[in-house]
Amino acid sequence: LEQPRLKGKKVVVTAGPTQEKIDPVRYFTNHSSGKMGYAIAEQAQREGADVILISGPTALPCPKGVKRVAVETAQEMYEAVTGQFADADIVIKAAAVADYRPKEVFTEKRKKQPGEWAIEMERTIDILKTLGEQKQSQLLVGFAAESEKVEEYAAKKLEAKNLDLIVANDISASGAGFKGDTNIITILTRDGKTKQYPLLSKQEAARRIFDELLDYMKRQQQS
Ligand code: PMT
Repeated sequence: LEQPRLKGKKVVVTAGPTQEKIDPVRYFTNHSSGKMGYAIAEQAQREGADVILISGPTALPCPKGVKRVAVETAQEMYEAVTGQFADADIVIKAAAVADYRPKEVFTEKRKKQPGEWAIEMERTIDILKTLGEQKQSQLLVGFAAESEKVEEYAAKKLEAKNLDLIVANDISASGAGFKGDTNIITILTRDGKTKQYPLLSKQEAARRIFDELLDYMKRQQQS
C-alpha cells in the first residue's frame, strides 16, 4: 500500500477545456479531454488529500472520493478556483483555459445571413497569473502546452506567473498532450530543477508530478 503523502492537505485541481459561448448553440473550445487533470485529482485522492476538482465539460466520471465542481467558461473557472484558494495547500492547473472569448454573446441563436461573419474576441482572465499574485503559503503548479521551445517557454511561465512548479508538455510530439491516455512531460521547479520524463500514462505522469512536488516541499522546509 502507498504511503498517503498528502494527508490533511487540501488540493485543488482544474481539468478539461472551457467553452466560450457565441450564442445558445455555438461555442469556442479546445481539444482537452480532462484526462490529465482527472488523473492528477485521482492520484491526490490516493495520496490522502481532500481533493476539489474544478472541471470544464468532459465525458469523464468523477473519481471516487473527489469533490467535483462543474464549470463551463473561463470566468466560471476563475470564480470557482478563487473561491477555493484561501485555505488550499496545493493548486494544480491542468485545465486548458480559453485565452479569448467572443466579445458579444447573442441571447438568441444567430440566424444564417449572406456573406461572412467576423467574430470579435476579447481576452479572458489569466487565472493562474491572478493566483500567483494572490499567493500566500499555497503551492502553485501550472501546465505549459507548447509546440516549440518547450523548456524555455515553460521557464518563462513559471517566472511570470509566480509558480512553484510547472509541467511542460510538447503538444506537437506524438503520444503527448491533448486527448490521449499518455503524456511526455518535463517538470521545472522554482529552485531550478528540471527533469524530463519519457512517455508515460497520464496516471503515471500524475504520480511523478506529486513525487517532484513533494521533493520540492522537502527542499523548501530544509532551506
Ligand atoms: O485534458 P487532456 O486531454 O488530458 O490534455 C491535457 C492538457 C494538454 C490539456 C494538459 O496537459 C495541459 O497542458 N494543460 C494546460 C493547457 C494550457 O492551457 O496551457 P497554456 O500554456 O495555454 O497555459 C498555461 C497555464 O496557465 C495552464 O496551467 C493553464 O491552466 C493556465 N491558464 C491559461 C489561460 C488562462 N486564461 N488562465 C489560466 O489559468
